Amino acid sequence: MGAPAVLPRRVLLGVSGGIAAYKAPMLVRALVKAGAQVQVVLSPAAHDFVSPLVLSTLSGRPALTDLVQKEEGTTTWNDHVHLARWADVLLIAPATAHTLAKMAHGLCDNLLMACWLSAECPAFAAPAMDMEMYRAPETTDNLARLTARGLHLIGPEDGELASGLAGVGRMTEPEDIVRRVAEAMNAGSPWAGKRMLITAGPTHEAIDPVRFIGNSSSGKMGFALAREAAAQGAIVELIAGPVALALDHPAVHRTDVVSAAQMAAAAKARFAHCDVAIMSAAVADWRPAHAAAEKMKKGTSLPALELEPTEDILAWMGGQKQKGQVLAGFALETDNELAHAMGKLQRKNLDLIVLNSLKDAGAGFGHDTNKVTLVGADKNTEELPLMTKAEVARSILRRIAILLPHAK
Ligand code: CTP
Repeated sequence: MGAPAVLPRRVLLGVSGGIAAYKAPMLVRALVKAGAQVQVVLSPAAHDFVSPLVLSTLSGRPALTDLVQKEEGTTTWNDHVHLARWADVLLIAPATAHTLAKMAHGLCDNLLMACWLSAECPAFAAPAMDMEMYRAPETTDNLARLTARGLHLIGPEDGELASGLAGVGRMTEPEDIVRRVAEAMNAGSPWAGKRMLITAGPTHEAIDPVRFIGNSSSGKMGFALAREAAAQGAIVELIAGPVALALDHPAVHRTDVVSAAQMAAAAKARFAHCDVAIMSAAVADWRPAHAAAEKMKKGTSLPALELEPTEDILAWMGGQKQKGQVLAGFALETDNELAHAMGKLQRKNLDLIVLNSLKDAGAGFGHDTNKVTLVGADKNTEELPLMTKAEVARSILRRIAILLPHAK
């Protein structure tokens, strides 16, 4: 079976100077096709084998080589620490005998080496060299040292070599490299390749073109869920109400909406295709029955607002839920919290409800922390301490992972 060759991650691709570098453009294309964002860093020697212009064009980002770049009187610095932190994965392909030797001994004479030394993310290398160089005791020692440090090796393969000889040393084909990295990155994560639908933020229901009814919600909890799920290998559809938040991750596809009706339409169109849906949005329960087309003027009398209910999106999902789909909702309560949350869980046919209490300091709107209680359909109740929203998101995902169909 194996994990799908989906790599919704940020890949820092190091290209060192060997003949196999001519395959680097194919590798960039395969990575992009698998859903990755790719930043290429070339060693200076790689320029003899592959065009940085081709790599920049295919990756959509300038391919970098120098720590310090001098252009038309200005000097800029390519921040290797920032590049290394940006990356979810460092992949060096091809990795020549010389580059592997420098990596093994901590030499730092170019940007690629500085990135390698700075990177704390998982790192992969696809060696490519002639068989004699690969079999040389120095190379064997270097590879042993690097794998002991945690580097994942992909190949080399047995086959035709650039020298015209045949033997071990050929770089693994680009598509196989992508598959191997995807499998290794996804190994062990229950979220690998899982399709997740997350709603976040408030909805605004128009009274007139400038006024609205809405709930207080920053969207931070939903965005933290999307970020964490993507980091763990999920592919996320994020439907966001009006929020001032950014999230740039290749595995997160964001749809911005304003009203409950727009959120309902976006969620309904996506629900059937998801394995898990988490409704963290604070959807407005009512909307003005008739929104004024023009701005209402302050007159002598107060306007009477006729309200009508919005559609309960979560309840609709609960009614549509198929075997194998997991559905989670949020409940914000001010009294009799547990009983109300359990009532919602049953009424809306949920598998999990996340109970927020407004009474807890540091929890709720706008905060970076939250204090929640997780209540399962089996009534299993887990009261969590005050944590950052990222930690709360991880706890929610851990709890939902147990409910996924293949989970033991
Ligand atoms: N929700 C929804 N659509 C709505 C209203 C709420 O999908 N129109 C979802 C929220 O995203 C949240 C959950 O339902 O996950 C909790 O909603 P809430 O408004 O608290 O529940 P109600 O059943 O409306 O109960 P009450 O307003 O009486 O507390």
